[in-house]
Amino acid sequence: MQVAKNLLGCLYLSGLALAAEKAVYAHFMVGIVENYTVDDWKQDIAQAQEIGIDGFALNCAPPRVDNYTPKQLANAYEAAADLGFHVFVSFDFAYWGDNDAADITSILRNYSSHPGQAYYNGGALASTFVGDYFNWNTVKNNMGGKKLTVIPMIQDPTYLSRQTTGIDGALSWYAWPTDGGNSVNPAPMTTIWDDRYLEHKGNLAYMAPVSPWFFTHFNTKNWAFICEDQPTRRWEQILQMKPELVEILTWNDFGESHYISGHEPHHSDDGSSEWAADFPHDAWRSLMKPYIAAYKSGAVSPTATHDELVYWYRPVPKGIQCTNDKIGRPRGVELFDDVVFASAILTEPAELTVTSGNQPPVTVSVPAGIHTFNFTMGVGEQKFSVTRGGTTILGGSGGKQIQQFCETYNFNAYVGAFAA
Ligand SMILES: *[C@@H]1O[C@H](CO)[C@@H](O)[C@H](O)[C@H]1NC(C)=O
Ligand SMILES: *[C@@H]1O[C@H](CO)[C@@H](O)[C@H](O)[C@H]1NC(C)=O
Ligand SMILES: *[C@@H]1O[C@H](CO)[C@@H](O)[C@H](O)[C@H]1NC(C)=O
Repeated sequence: MQVAKNLLGCLYLSGLALAAEKAVYAHFMVGIVENYTVDDWKQDIAQAQEIGIDGFALNCAPPRVDNYTPKQLANAYEAAADLGFHVFVSFDFAYWGDNDAADITSILRNYSSHPGQAYYNGGALASTFVGDYFNWNTVKNNMGGKKLTVIPMIQDPTYLSRQTTGIDGALSWYAWPTDGGNSVNPAPMTTIWDDRYLEHKGNLAYMAPVSPWFFTHFNTKNWAFICEDQPTRRWEQILQMKPELVEILTWNDFGESHYISGHEPHHSDDGSSEWAADFPHDAWRSLMKPYIAAYKSGAVSPTATHDELVYWYRPVPKGIQCTNDKIGRPRGVELFDDVVFASAILTEPAELTVTSGNQPPVTVSVPAGIHTFNFTMGVGEQKFSVTRGGTTILGGSGGKQIQQFCETYNFNAYVGAFAA
């Protein structure tokens, strides 16, 4: 009897431990927060914790590139520890290399028992951007007995079944419809890449990427991936797939328009404010919150616990020629649809009416849960309203008008919300 009881207790506890390991992280670009204070970090962390994000993957370059990396890692760990958040270092191998094994080891050893450190499978978590074939065995052998769990970015899923570099899992960066290079696929996002990782991973952990958007407009980098309904479509894929871990790409990469953080004033600007300033994405956090809860509980669909409408749209129809753009029309944008998106988060069924500028109003019946709709884009004011039993429960005008002219190309999304 006693044995049986202990056995059950054990099973129950190990079940709990397994459930507790499912975690959602967000990729944080340390390179843009040279002068962040611990309080700045805490502001970001509070926003992330509010929707159930467990920690940040701290993307950073070595001190020879960004001399503030050690300082900002220390700030991030301190803020995380104070707020019960858990971070890990994501070495950006665009800058780190094979010769940096000793420095990588000393950073990981230093933080491996820090109260702000994230763990997976009993080991301090470490990750990367690129650096696929770095030999982690050397690092692991020099951890002074501390366990490390390495889940680097791996670009070739078949590598997982033949790797000997000491990795414990793989992070995929295929968060947008693409062929693996940066060619723009005529969307939408599928799980074709995830399926390849799952096929080859064996016992390794899969960290699946989730990204709401992609648009970038630099001299050297000028395209958009087709990602229009991706803020909910991708999460629906994740709920079916149930990967061991999720990483949101990204928390604060304003340059590629896939940020979900607030546009805090204390980060540096590489020129991306041209398309990211005054284009809030905060409401995508509200939209992700119920999906994150569903992912962690193992549910295949999210539960709405309140009524809310999250909307997003681009500022100009795709065919408009901008008058003062030095770089030119971004690659891939001809594949966008001129539509406005609305995701209804509803505790009970309701009617959603959208009037997009000069288009006639369109009303759809929406069941309970979270459902995403699109409406033909019209120039002018964007109006949304949700009614239930003939009573308007929420709505209003979008925070930005859609215009018929532009100086520079901007295929970023303006995101807003109305709550009851
Ligand atoms: C070790 O951690 C402390 C904070 O606990 C930090 O100030 C220092 O820069 C870290 N050193 C390395 C090598 O990471
Ligand atoms: C950070 O602060 C230093 C010193 O005040 C300043 O020179 C630098 O431009 C600041 N960096 C950013 C990105 O604001
Ligand atoms: C808009 O909604 C329709 C109907 O659900 C769907 O077929 C279409 O793919 C959607 N368009 C975009 C760009 O998401």
